[in-house]
Amino acid sequence: MNVLVIGNGGREHAILQALKKSKRVEKLYCMKGNAGTAEIAENVDVDFMNIDAVLRFAKGNPQIDYYVVTPDDPLAIGLVDALEGIGKRCFGPNKAAAQIEASKAFAKQLMEKYGIPTAQSATFDNYGDALEYVRKVGAPIVLKADGLALGKGVLLCDSLKQAEEGLKEIMLDKAFGAAGNKIVIEEYMRGLKYTPGEEVSVLAFTDGKTIVPMITSCDHKRASDGDKGLNTGGMGTFSPCPFWTEELQGEVYEKIMLPTMNAMNAEGRTFKGCLYFGLMRTDKGMKVVEYNSRFGDPETQVVLPMLKTDLLDIFEAVTDGRLADIDIQWESGACVCVVLASGGYPLHYVKGKEITIGDIGDCTLIHAGTAIKDGKLVTNGGRVLDVVAKGADIEQARNKAYAAVKNIHWEGMQYRSDIGIKYRDR
Ligand code: AMP
Ligand code: GLY
Repeated sequence: MNVLVIGNGGREHAILQALKKSKRVEKLYCMKGNAGTAEIAENVDVDFMNIDAVLRFAKGNPQIDYYVVTPDDPLAIGLVDALEGIGKRCFGPNKAAAQIEASKAFAKQLMEKYGIPTAQSATFDNYGDALEYVRKVGAPIVLKADGLALGKGVLLCDSLKQAEEGLKEIMLDKAFGAAGNKIVIEEYMRGLKYTPGEEVSVLAFTDGKTIVPMITSCDHKRASDGDKGLNTGGMGTFSPCPFWTEELQGEVYEKIMLPTMNAMNAEGRTFKGCLYFGLMRTDKGMKVVEYNSRFGDPETQVVLPMLKTDLLDIFEAVTDGRLADIDIQWESGACVCVVLASGGYPLHYVKGKEITIGDIGDCTLIHAGTAIKDGKLVTNGGRVLDVVAKGADIEQARNKAYAAVKNIHWEGMQYRSDIGIKYRDR
């Protein structure tokens, strides 16, 4: 089969690397891709947010049998619906199902209606009412722009002053554009044992009838060591989550995963694809922090390398509604991903810096923001490269990853040196 993956980042390169292992894959394509995807796939220079352009390309390239739509934005505007409308087979939820990520207000209402554990919240589309509510409840409090905001529309406010400023930023100054027309105001959840709280990402395959969790992983959203600095798209991940147990798995499956799949069916929004559960362990059990309608980035970079089953077999089973027939197997051991970013990220950074890569041992290099310019590999984004290492345990994988990082350079390169450390004492 010829398979096209839509997206440009590390996540898409990781998906392509997993698909490349499939015996049934003949040729891979990536729209638009980066310098890494170009090594294993043909990059296609079409704007995937332009549905007409994608449909024109699909009609002109009948040799492509299957489309994997990965990023949140094209899912939210209905790219899967459009491709299916011209008879193409796809992996990814339709527009109605992608609402679970595209609108935080929708996700909160769903959880409330179906009794799925999450932080208490209230939703407002009027600044005055929101301000009154914030003043009544007080700090600490969490403010979330309703719509998609590149993962940046969440403000954790420790003081009332911060909350009042944040509310103005989101609703009046429109710091996140139209995403801030509505706001979700949430209880600030605390972790059971750790500050600021223990979080785990659980990605799951679902065809709307069956839901199968993948191995767990932990993200690092802040820019600097010790979870300091600004929020980013993710500076590293490791798998599995150290505090995960069979008991938690059971609780999450029964109280969160199955009820979510059933709730989406009941709402006439059957979700088919990868459903991402961002969870927090609290003193009142596991709670949902957020849903994503897609693979996580950089979670995918540590989850898919551990997959033993053919990814294309799983994707097609999801599309055809026969996921229950597939036995999904994982390697034991651990995987660590260290993200290498441009100096200044997540604020202003410069592109076009030449990258040199020395010995990386048996680590895998995943490209996020890279390009080839005048025959040289250069930086082309905020997050540039992901170094991925496997090991018997997280410590071994972490040591391998950081040994490789020492041999990669460009001017201004920055990374966190503490990926793989948190939650490790229990
Ligand atoms: P989100 O984009 O919704 O995942 O939020 C980004 C990050 O903010 C999460 O990974 C959490 O660390 C934190 N967060 C979001 N909502 C809450 C909450 N209600 N209580 C505590 N932390 C939160
Ligand atoms: N790593 C978090 C996300 O993909 O949204």
